[in-house]
Amino acid sequence: MNLSICSHHGNCNSQWTLNLSRFPSGSRLNTHATMEPFVIATNRQLSVVHPIYKLLSPHFRDTMNINALARQILINAGGVLEKTVFPDKYSMELSSRVYKNWKLTDHALPVDLLKRGVAVEDPASPGRLRLLIEDYPYAVDGLAVWSAIEEWVEAYCTIYYPSDKTVQEDTEFQAWWREVREGGHGDKKDEPCTIIWIASALHAAVNFGQYPYSSYLPNRPTISRRFMPEPGTLEYAELEANPDRVFLKSITSLLQSILGISLIEILPRHSDEVYLGQRDTPEWNSDEKALTAFEAFADKLVAIENRIIEMNQDSRLKNRNGPVEVPYTLLYPSTSDFKRVGGLTGCSIPNSVSI
Ligand SMILES: [Fe+2]
Repeated sequence: MNLSICSHHGNCNSQWTLNLSRFPSGSRLNTHATMEPFVIATNRQLSVVHPIYKLLSPHFRDTMNINALARQILINAGGVLEKTVFPDKYSMELSSRVYKNWKLTDHALPVDLLKRGVAVEDPASPGRLRLLIEDYPYAVDGLAVWSAIEEWVEAYCTIYYPSDKTVQEDTEFQAWWREVREGGHGDKKDEPCTIIWIASALHAAVNFGQYPYSSYLPNRPTISRRFMPEPGTLEYAELEANPDRVFLKSITSLLQSILGISLIEILPRHSDEVYLGQRDTPEWNSDEKALTAFEAFADKLVAIENRIIEMNQDSRLKNRNGPVEVPYTLLYPSTSDFKRVGGLTGCSIPNSVSI
């Protein structure tokens, strides 16, 4: 759970919100919690041989386990986070406020970029979207991964649903859709591409960079211990005289910082995940057409890996490494890695939210 004031990458004016918003708000809420109704509806309504079950199930692996664990000790009222790094009961209050305006469709990457004003619609550009900040690694890599997922989902679904009529006549699928909309996210709707994007790439981008980007706590404090000073007050004069001192007096305390750093040393660790474009069982589908489409998806992801390496070595793209020279690899898929190197790697896109 990350209770950032502003929920987006690099689109804020103030240094305070920029630092707090290095990751989209709520790694846990926007990804972990929002996946849960889909996991439940899929297991309740679709049989294991249903094509949509086969498409989505890898993206739900271990999500319920990690969420159950998190609810018992980490994010519950009075739990570890509220009692240490986040501002007590207000964590839940802030999260509830954010959820009121939450829309699944806003998490489709192109919609997110348009809404944040960092891209405009442009029929001539690939994906019909032109980035206003061209050297914006999250958006550049994200759009490449997004369109690979989109093409894969479209190719796969077309095999089983050649027309709208076939969708309407699939009673299992209709029951699943109803449960997601009426039972899970009552007021929400969207298509499997966004579900896969949230479970895989969006979670990877917000989760696996926590240690490299935030283990120096002043770079991403979890709370402010003081109100923002108002002009004309003593506190404001102190801020003007010595902003660094006021900053340190305001942000997460020493003990809170140590606890926070310990936590983010655990959460972005890779374990035995299966990466995007990989399956743990080769016999997941016996349909030749589906397997060919999946292979094309994996090939596309490997091409994205190569392109990311190339761009990170291109000195003209200043934001790929930044002033501290940490290459942006959070959306490097690692589809080609079948050995699955674990630990704090700061890269790879697992299929599902599992840590
Ligand atoms: Fe996570």
